[in-house]
Amino acid sequence: MADKGGFPHYMLKEIFEQPQGLRDTIAPRVSLEEAVVRLDEVRISTDELRALRRINIVASGTSRHAGMAGQYMIQDLVNIPVDVDYASEFEYRNPLIGPGELTIVITQSGETADTTAAQREAKAKGSRTIAISNVVDSTIAREADGVLYTHAGPEISIASTKAFTAQMAVLYLFALYLGQVRGKFAKEQRRQYIRELLDLPGKMEALLKTAPSACEQLAEKYYKVQDFLFMGRAIHYPVAMDGALKLKEVSYIHAEGYPTGETKHGPNAMIDENLPLVIIATCDREDSESVLRYEKNLANIRGFKQQSARVIAIASEGDEELPRLADHTIFVPRATELLLPILEIVPLQLFAYYMTVKKGLDVDRPRNLVKSVTLE
Ligand code: F6R
Repeated sequence: MADKGGFPHYMLKEIFEQPQGLRDTIAPRVSLEEAVVRLDEVRISTDELRALRRINIVASGTSRHAGMAGQYMIQDLVNIPVDVDYASEFEYRNPLIGPGELTIVITQSGETADTTAAQREAKAKGSRTIAISNVVDSTIAREADGVLYTHAGPEISIASTKAFTAQMAVLYLFALYLGQVRGKFAKEQRRQYIRELLDLPGKMEALLKTAPSACEQLAEKYYKVQDFLFMGRAIHYPVAMDGALKLKEVSYIHAEGYPTGETKHGPNAMIDENLPLVIIATCDREDSESVLRYEKNLANIRGFKQQSARVIAIASEGDEELPRLADHTIFVPRATELLLPILEIVPLQLFAYYMTVKKGLDVDRPRNLVKSVTLE
């Protein structure tokens, strides 16, 4: 119990450590007063960053899901095309990359064989590289041009939780930094972005006061179910993917993450009372595109309910519409669209955790998995 800080499992401890991981990752790199982001560790000249034509993000598993969220952050804030790939695919598909591009490799451990190989491939083709790693002086960090460390602290449980939220925070910081270097935002706008980022740990603390009991009650109802479908649109899709991955890997329950609008192209045939849906349907009322996506989500949920599906919705606090449609609603604090994923994943991590505990499985050490996949 001692090294678990009073928590029954490392996974739960690490879920609760996320606000601190975010604080340690964000605060030393921003100044609200000066409205600047400082990322000296990038070690790529501002001239080169200004001239970048494209960014490639390469990673595995949960780290790749962070990269998918980062793709939306960078494209939205900086307007540079971003591609995301599986590290295990990247090395075998002869990627068309080269000088004038940046490859960001993301890895909690910094030792994942596929990801280090992908970085070597990117470098060999003339791309600059930045590693996002949670382990100081890891192999990937040593070989990269620049390193951005997540300061989530050691992650022991096999399922990645606190590293994931810290990775997304670093990607947001990097997007802000790139926008700053490329003169994308006025000072007040930058200050606003930084303020929103700094507000995030407090919001997550508030979420961690309500979400655990709500997720435990849900697990009580659902732990015998064999299949789940997780859905989200745009930047919320990677959260759906990671929610499904968490559930699969720790509870051995089959789950898939799907883009909400894509269900009508096939999976809809499976949706009925036997396939519960976890739908991320938060909304940033200040962002018209977010409101549009939200409206579409409501229409989708109405359709799923007509097919008798049971719906677990992740909603923004204050939403009165969703609880009328969904069977269960878990609320997350309001935040700007691009930062919502960092909050949305928390109830999904907790859901996977409690489902596994109810099933009596070893949540910290799922079968057939290792913490760091150092062999191909
Ligand atoms: C899922 C999980 C894995 C890792 C993946 C990459 O919870 O932990 O999917 O994210 O093996 O590991 P790193 O980030 O160390 O490269």
